[in-house]
Amino acid sequence: MELIVAVYEDWGIGKDGTQPIALSADRKFFRETTRGCMVIAGRRTVEDFPGKKPLPGRENVLLTRQGGDYPGFTLCENVEKVLELAQKAPRAMVIGGGSVYRQLLPYCDRAYVTKLKTHVECDTWFPDLDESPEWRLAETLDSGEENGIGFEFCLYERIEVGNQ
Ligand SMILES: NC(=O)c1ccc[n+]([C@@H]2O[C@H](COP(=O)([O-])OP(=O)(O)OC[C@H]3O[C@@H](n4cnc5c(N)ncnc54)[C@H](OP(=O)(O)O)[C@@H]3O)[C@@H](O)[C@H]2O)c1
Repeated sequence: MELIVAVYEDWGIGKDGTQPIALSADRKFFRETTRGCMVIAGRRTVEDFPGKKPLPGRENVLLTRQGGDYPGFTLCENVEKVLELAQKAPRAMVIGGGSVYRQLLPYCDRAYVTKLKTHVECDTWFPDLDESPEWRLAETLDSGEENGIGFEFCLYERIEVGNQ
């Protein structure tokens, strides 16, 4: 499994259920990277999707313990169900939010991290992979600037045990 996330300078990812600053270059990168994938999101993140609709061209999996009416989503009430589905998918990508990243990070071996070079007040964070002995920055795929905010698309990989 893989994941994709956009982080501010302190690895903050959101506040009050949304992303305070999002760049169109990053939205494009997200669309391109997740195209054709199974995407896995928590209920709070889905509430923030445009129109709460599934993302087109992708199989949308929604984690919720409450259930509910979410047309176009496959609902999962626990992580085990998600892992079962992900095993059958050609490519499964975790897309947030904070609680879902935390729970599924141990099952991921690649992380696409957009680093936004700005400090934003957040109430939700992603683990700092630069501080983690389990992850390494494999490649900076691209970088640029939009609205005066620098950004980098970084690919992190899990360090295989015995291969450090
Ligand atoms: N920067 C980024 O790239 C990025 C990406 C995505 C999201 N975000 C941000 O992250 C924040 C949302 O994160 P969050 O942690 O508050 O919420 P979240 O992870 O999106 O959703 C939490 C909900 O997911 C369900 N859930 C979580 N674990 C589950 C499990 N093991 N089994 C069943 N259901 C489970 C529960 O839904 P129920 O309550 O329905 O049971 C839970 O309330 C927002 O600010 C959003 O903008 C940022």
